[in-house]
Amino acid sequence: MKILAIETSCDETAAAIVKDGRRVISNVIASQIDLHAKTGGVVPEVAAREHVLKMLPVLDECLELAKCSWSDIDALAVTKGPGLVSSLIIGTETASVISYVKSLPLIPVQHISGHIYSNWLDHEEDIEFPLLVLTVSGGHNELILMRGHHDFEVLGETRDDAAGEAFDKVARLLGLGYPGGPIISKTANSGDASAFKLPRIMLEKDSLDFSFSGLKTAVLSEVMKFNTNEAGQGELSEKVKADLAASFQDAVVEVLVAKLRRAADKHDVREVHLAGGVSANLRLRELAEREFEGMKLRYPKSILYCTDNAAMIGSSAYFLAQKKDFPVQNVIPSTSFFINS
Ligand code: KG4
Ligand code: ZN
Repeated sequence: MKILAIETSCDETAAAIVKDGRRVISNVIASQIDLHAKTGGVVPEVAAREHVLKMLPVLDECLELAKCSWSDIDALAVTKGPGLVSSLIIGTETASVISYVKSLPLIPVQHISGHIYSNWLDHEEDIEFPLLVLTVSGGHNELILMRGHHDFEVLGETRDDAAGEAFDKVARLLGLGYPGGPIISKTANSGDASAFKLPRIMLEKDSLDFSFSGLKTAVLSEVMKFNTNEAGQGELSEKVKADLAASFQDAVVEVLVAKLRRAADKHDVREVHLAGGVSANLRLRELAEREFEGMKLRYPKSILYCTDNAAMIGSSAYFLAQKKDFPVQNVIPSTSFFINS
């Protein structure tokens, strides 16, 4: 079954064709990073306008790379949320119209379930349930127990910032640019992770929730110690930036891995998965590999599958379609179709 999927929940206009939920035939991502770097973050209205410009060229390229025409496609999938409403609507409207014109079933997909299914992409061997997933992105941070396909139990979630959001905000504090995750990670390579004593916020004994806002404040108070002029602005040396980046990165990933361990001790699982933008972080992967040595640990096969992409939406849609019946659409669905599905 070939599914053409569309993802526009934030600042990536993406389309992909995925066969049987696992094999990626084409995967096109038009990133808006350069646009949003100018403002140090995503401005929703700007992102939505860019989606309008990129959506059709991205779809054309996706079909062309796959050497497919519309008649080769069995179903459509689209991200229904969560995300920026003005961005989501470009994807859902596009998918609705194509579904109507081409008489193709349309499968609405929850974005985080997409991240979870990024671990199925290009993996040949069977994935065994029950399994534990840590989803870590800019907008979400959850620990999920999965007993079967689309059977999710949220064991813990962030009480304030998500890990990726903390990376982005700290990068801004250090004057490193946007998006923060990859830049902090690169800067941290030349830093000393023990240079600054930053808190590991574990919350109550037994809690599987996360909290990163206190850590962000701790970094801010370290940065303020270096402020020299009366306007409260000062230059951080490259060495201080690298040491702070490395210390911060370790404080985040050590907590993520410790919580995963706590969850794995409570639940008898066969596999442990990392998913979402922060799963691209090499230090997180390294610590998780060490912690779960001898156990099946997975993270997305390609860095492109860690951050937002449409292939993961196509995979999630395929496994959802195995469980539910999705009729051919003969009307353009209203917004309530996506909210209630
Ligand atoms: O999954 P994603 O593309 O978007 C959301 O659904 O939120 O994740 C984006 C987040 C950003 O906060 C970005 O800074 C972070 O993932 N990220 C990283 C790395 N690459 C991306 N964080 C840490 N290390 C990385 N290498
Ligand atoms: Zn995402």
